Amino acid sequence: MVVLGIETSCDETAVAVVADGVVRAEEVASQVAEHAAYGGVVPELASRRHLEAIDPLVTTCLADAGVALADLDLIAVTRGPGLLVALLVGVQYAKGLAAGLSIPLIGVNHCLAHLYVAVAEGGGAYPYLGLVVSGGHTHLFRVDGPVEFTLLGHTVDDAAGEAFDKVGKMVGLPYPAGPEIDCLAAAGDATAVALPRPMARRDNLLLSFSGLKTAVRTHLERNGQLPETGGVPPAGRALADLCASFQQAVVETIAPKVARAAAREGLTRVVVGGGVAANRGLRAALGALPGLDVHFIRPAWCADNGVMVATLGEARFRAGVRHDLDLAPIPGLAPLLVDEGVVQDPA
Ligand code: KG4
Ligand code: ZN
Repeated sequence: MVVLGIETSCDETAVAVVADGVVRAEEVASQVAEHAAYGGVVPELASRRHLEAIDPLVTTCLADAGVALADLDLIAVTRGPGLLVALLVGVQYAKGLAAGLSIPLIGVNHCLAHLYVAVAEGGGAYPYLGLVVSGGHTHLFRVDGPVEFTLLGHTVDDAAGEAFDKVGKMVGLPYPAGPEIDCLAAAGDATAVALPRPMARRDNLLLSFSGLKTAVRTHLERNGQLPETGGVPPAGRALADLCASFQQAVVETIAPKVARAAAREGLTRVVVGGGVAANRGLRAALGALPGLDVHFIRPAWCADNGVMVATLGEARFRAGVRHDLDLAPIPGLAPLLVDEGVVQDPA
């Protein structure tokens, strides 16, 4: 089966051709540099860029894969969660292609696809505990199959990646700040700045990052380092120490919840995906959790990509899921999970 995966939920136009489970080609057109000028993703700009990029990207990807349009058997496209005007571009393009080629179309959940790409790496044996940590999500799922997901827990406020990006912005790092904080943290002292681990000790599977973000702001303000109140942001050693302390707090907020969820569900296999899954501190801490076999998605596929869409799309298609040409984007994760029949059990 030859599958074309299409992803346009945020600021990356991404496509991939996966044939009989083998990735034949993939392409990503990132808009990150353009949005950086605004300190975050501008939906209207993202939509326009997706519209310009999508068709040439598909043409290039098919050529790289040595596949003709007529060889495609299935079009898989992200239908949510994400920015509505961005999602619309991919969904409408996918519909046009599927209708023109008279082949099936399947809409895919971006958040679940961040986990499911493990299959393309030879991992993801069921059942497993899935942790999605990205700019938009920090969610824990139990995964029993391509259509059997249970939401176990989630952040009650910001996503982990959002916290990285907002803290980065406070100290003048360019958007998205996660990768740079990761690099700076490697040279810093994680005990230098005392920061909270919100909700980490609570006996539930809920997470929170908003209080941590506020604690960083308060620390900067007290030390005359918050630019928006006239301070001079930390640099050199002080910046590295702050990054290391912040990153450690994020890691120590997430790790106990992963351990708790695995124990509660009796799971030993864990899959970690999404942009923040590339973080070296998080990988080290989760990899060291006793009794758990943790599969980290390779860094290139932690970021948004077409392979994850093609992989989950094919698996769901094989499991009998079907979508028609009236497929609509669903921007919010909660309504999308309801639509997909995902059991929600945040405890
Ligand atoms: O999955 P993704 O590409 O897009 C969403 O679906 O949100 O995730 C992007 C997020 C951004 O917040 C970015 O700062 C963060 O992932 N990120 C990282 C790292 N690489 C990307 N955060 C921490 N450490 C990293 N190495
Ligand atoms: Zn993503």
